[in-house]
Amino acid sequence: MLKGFVFDLDGVITDTARFHYQAWAKIAKDELGITINPSVNEQLKGVSRMDSLNVILRFGNQENRYTESQKAQFATEKNDYYISLISHMTPSDILPGMKQFLDDIKAGGYGISLASASKNAPRILTGLGLTDYFDAIVDPATLHRGKPDPEIFARGAALLKIAPSEAVGLEDAVAGIQAIKAAGEFAVGIGDPKLLHQADLNFTTTADVALPKIVDAFMAAHP
Ligand code: G6P
Ligand code: MG
Repeated sequence: MLKGFVFDLDGVITDTARFHYQAWAKIAKDELGITINPSVNEQLKGVSRMDSLNVILRFGNQENRYTESQKAQFATEKNDYYISLISHMTPSDILPGMKQFLDDIKAGGYGISLASASKNAPRILTGLGLTDYFDAIVDPATLHRGKPDPEIFARGAALLKIAPSEAVGLEDAVAGIQAIKAAGEFAVGIGDPKLLHQADLNFTTTADVALPKIVDAFMAAHP
């Protein structure tokens, strides 16, 4: 039986990917002399701050150039700039359809938790005015492994006190869909269906996301 929803944040509830990209592009250019492009950006989605830096360094063939403390400094600089970019977020930055969707699942009595790799997630939810919808928020600082490891989505269901088989995970990133599936949950992809082909159900945009369609597909998969 479907009992709860485990949400990714960036790219599902709000479009912070553009701010992450803008902040990384600046640090990469100013500090590392690397010009990143949108295909690198795709690899940063759902990936932790330090792992994102490593992806960029690999892209620029600079994998072993910096010490861990220098890398920590770059990550801090990126985050400071990122925070300045997200500091003006308001409920108008909720992606189309997602407020209605959250209202619908709340009204349906389902549990709702957040499984974002972002340490800034609580701050973003506050800006969007959505904090009260969430019964639980996974603290990414307590995780051992990032997406595509199932840990974060497993925790998202556990915090709702439901089994993975009773949970739907929502994701815009390939690594996130893999994490949901590895956790044994029903995966809803939001974005390019070709990219997210491992999802159990896909919506091209957030505006298309509809609770009855998810319930139907979930029930068909759990006869
Ligand atoms: C999300 C985003 C990633 C980001 C990660 C960490 O998963 O999709 O692009 O790197 O969160 O975010 P943070 O706000 O902690 O740097
Ligand atoms: Mg995401």
